Amino acid sequence: GQTSFLVFSASLRKGSLNTKLAKLAVKVIEKNGGTVDFADMAEFDCPTFNQDLEIDNYHPDGAEALRKKILANDAFIISSPEYNGSMPGYLKNVIDWTSRFRPQPFHQHHALLMSASPSMAGGNRGLWALRVPFEHLGTRVYPDMFSLATAHEAFKEDGTLKNETLAKRFEDNLIAFMNLVEASKHYPCIKKA
Ligand code: FNR
Repeated sequence: GQTSFLVFSASLRKGSLNTKLAKLAVKVIEKNGGTVDFADMAEFDCPTFNQDLEIDNYHPDGAEALRKKILANDAFIISSPEYNGSMPGYLKNVIDWTSRFRPQPFHQHHALLMSASPSMAGGNRGLWALRVPFEHLGTRVYPDMFSLATAHEAFKEDGTLKNETLAKRFEDNLIAFMNLVEASKHYPCIKKA
């Protein structure tokens, strides 16, 4: 069947630039023949992790929702804000909670990381930080990451990017990732467990 992607913006903010970028990713994926499960970060938000809460195999609803959506799709794409040179605390929190399921759901799943920021670096340092827990969990984090700099002035009214070179680079990055995910479905030796 078609290759399916969970796409979510890791911002809880109404006017989020990362949500804009994630919605643009949805358009590009659908245009190129993929299917998308778009999710809101609010669905995944969890109480602060505390091992004492893990009685009788307890997992918060947010972690359960993320686990289900990771497993229901061939790959996931996150557009995350950069907070203080790293990922937002609530995002690390839900990753920690979700990592407590057995089997651990991030293992061998493909992921593409992207960010949007009003800064000149576009939140790229946050993505290098976000790679660390995912690499640790055995996620196949795609090497090329996309960071949208000066994101507050990058979008047109219709949600596409003003800069055509950048728009093409964004689309090419997504298509390359889609091709990898699609190809890996046909190789049982590297198929997800
Ligand atoms: C930020 N912001 C920010 N931006 C950046 O490029 N590098 C950084 O280190 C930080 N640090 C930071 C810390 C905190 C606590 C906040 C609240 C914000 C600015 C950030 O990129 C900006 O608010 C974005 O608009 C957040 O993404 P969304 O919510 O628009 O998707």
